[in-house]
Amino acid sequence: MALLQWLNEIYTPFFLFVFIFIALLMKLLFINKSRKIRRSNLPPGPPTIPFIGNLHQLGIGTMPPKSLQSLADKYGPITFLQLGEIPTVVVSSARLAKEVLKTHDLALASRPQLFSAKYLFYNCTDIAFAPYSAYWRHVRKICILELLSAKRVHSYSSVREEEVASLVHRVAGSYPGTTNLSKMLGLYANNVVCRVAFGRDFSEAGDHKKHGFQKMLDEYQELLGGFSVGDFFPSLEFIHSLTGMKARLLETSRKFDQLIDQIVNEHRACNKIKEHKDLVDILLEVQKDGSGEMPLTIDNIKAIILDMFAAGTDTTFITLDWAMTELLMNPHVMEKAQKEVRSVLGERRVVAESDLHQLQYMRAVIKEIFRLHPAVPVLVPRESMEDITLDGYIVPAKTRFFVNAWAIGRNAESWEDPNAFKPERFLDSNIDYRGQDFELIPFGAGRRGCPAITFAIAVVELALAQLLYSFDWELPPCVTPKDLDLTEVFGISMHRRENLLVVARPYFL
Ligand code: HEM
Repeated sequence: MALLQWLNEIYTPFFLFVFIFIALLMKLLFINKSRKIRRSNLPPGPPTIPFIGNLHQLGIGTMPPKSLQSLADKYGPITFLQLGEIPTVVVSSARLAKEVLKTHDLALASRPQLFSAKYLFYNCTDIAFAPYSAYWRHVRKICILELLSAKRVHSYSSVREEEVASLVHRVAGSYPGTTNLSKMLGLYANNVVCRVAFGRDFSEAGDHKKHGFQKMLDEYQELLGGFSVGDFFPSLEFIHSLTGMKARLLETSRKFDQLIDQIVNEHRACNKIKEHKDLVDILLEVQKDGSGEMPLTIDNIKAIILDMFAAGTDTTFITLDWAMTELLMNPHVMEKAQKEVRSVLGERRVVAESDLHQLQYMRAVIKEIFRLHPAVPVLVPRESMEDITLDGYIVPAKTRFFVNAWAIGRNAESWEDPNAFKPERFLDSNIDYRGQDFELIPFGAGRRGCPAITFAIAVVELALAQLLYSFDWELPPCVTPKDLDLTEVFGISMHRRENLLVVARPYFL
C-alpha cells in the first residue's frame, strides 16, 4: 500500500502515460466492439467519445439522477449510454419501468458485480449485490422468513415503541435549545434494525459514536453508488488505486468487518437459551448445521449482516429526514398532519400501531416523500442475463440497467404539477409504493424489489406519527425555509448533506 502511494506521488506522470497508452489500445478494441453493438437495434442515446463513451455526461460528483433526466429529456425515456466499457440502458418513465421490472423481471434479475460491492460484501455474497442464483434465493428467503415477513415485523412492535419513546425523550431533552434532528433520526433507525436483527443496539455507552456509525454509513453509501469511474472499466482494475477508491474501500470494509466480528463473537459466546432468536442466531445455526441444502460460510453471514445494517438504516433515516424537512418547509401540510394525529389520539399521548391506519393524511405525506425523495434514487443497478427486446429495441445480454425512480417520480406524464409538494394528490388515489404502480417505485419492484417494505413502513410511520403528535416544530431562530441547504450527497442512497436543525416544543407541556 505504502509502495503504491509512493509510486503514485513520484510517478504520477508515468502512470498517466501508461493510462493514456492503455486507453488508446482500448479505444481501438472498442471501436470494433461498439460497431458490433451498434449494428443491433439499440435505444437512442448521445454520441460517444472514444474510450470514455458517455461517462462525462453522467454527472459523477454531482447528481446523476438529474443528469440522466436531462439525457432522457433529449433522447427519450429509454436511453442507451456507453459508460466506459459498460453498455448501459437508463429508463425514466413508468411505462418502461414496468417493462424492466415486470415484463423482463427474470432476464433482468441479476446485478452487476461492482468493484466496491465485491470489497464491502465479501465478494458479493450479500442479498442486494449477489448475482441471480440459487444462493441469492436461499439467503433472501432466510432473511424474509426470519426478519422481514409481516408476522416477524409485527412481533417487533414493542422494540419500535420503545425506540420511538427514546427518540421523543431525546428530542424533548433539547428544548428550548436547538436539536440536531437528523442525528436523532439516524440513531433511531439504526437502533431498531440492530435490536431486531442483531439482538442489541449500539447506542449505550457511546457505542454509536465510538464506532463512528454515521460516518461509516455515509462512506458506505457513497462508495456503493455504482457511479465511480473505476466501475465502468472492469478490465482496468488499477484505476481504483489511482482514484483512491481502493484505499477508501479497504478502510471502510476493515471498520465494518471489526463491527460485524464483534456482533458474531457476542452471539457465539452467549450460551443463554433465548426466547427469541435473532437473525444472527439463525444464520449461525444454518452455518453450524452445515447439512442444509446450501451451507453458509462465516463470510456469507457477515455479508448478510452488513446488508441488513446498511440497507436497513440509511433508507428509513433518509425518508424520515426528508419528511420532517418538507413538513418544516410546508407549514400548512405540517399543521394538517398534526391536526389529524392529535384528533385520532386525543389525550392518549402515545401512538399505537393500531392507530396508524386512521392517519390517511400522514400516509399521503409519506407517499409524497417517496415520490420526490426516493432514498435509492436510481434503484440498485441490474444486469441483463440474456438479449431482450425492450420498446422495440434489442438490448444485448450483460447490459447494465438503471431505473431512474427519482425522474419517474417527477415525470409530468404521470404527475400533475410534479415538482410541488402536495400530499393531497394521494388522498383520492389508489397509487401505492409496493411495486404494482410503476409511477411510484421507491422500493423497486419484482424479484429484486426491496424485501423490507413492511419493515420499513412500520419504522417510518410510527416515528413520524409520534413526532407530529409530541412536538410543535420550528426552524431555529432567524432561519427560514429558504435558508435550508437541500443539497444531496449522491450514493446508492441519497441523503441531505446538511443535518436538519430544529426547535421542538413539547406539545404536552
Ligand atoms: C424507506 C426504506 C427503504 C427503501 C426506500 C428501500 C429501497 C430499496 C430499493 C430501491 C431496492 C432495490 C430494488 C430493485 O432493485 O428493484 C432495495 C433492495 C433491498 N433492500 Fe430496501 N429499502 C428500504 C428499507 C430497507 C430495510 C429496512 C431493509 C432491511 C432491514 C432493506 C433491505 C433491502 C435488501 C436486502 C435489498 C436487496 C434485495 C435484492 O437484491 O434481492 N431495505 N431497497
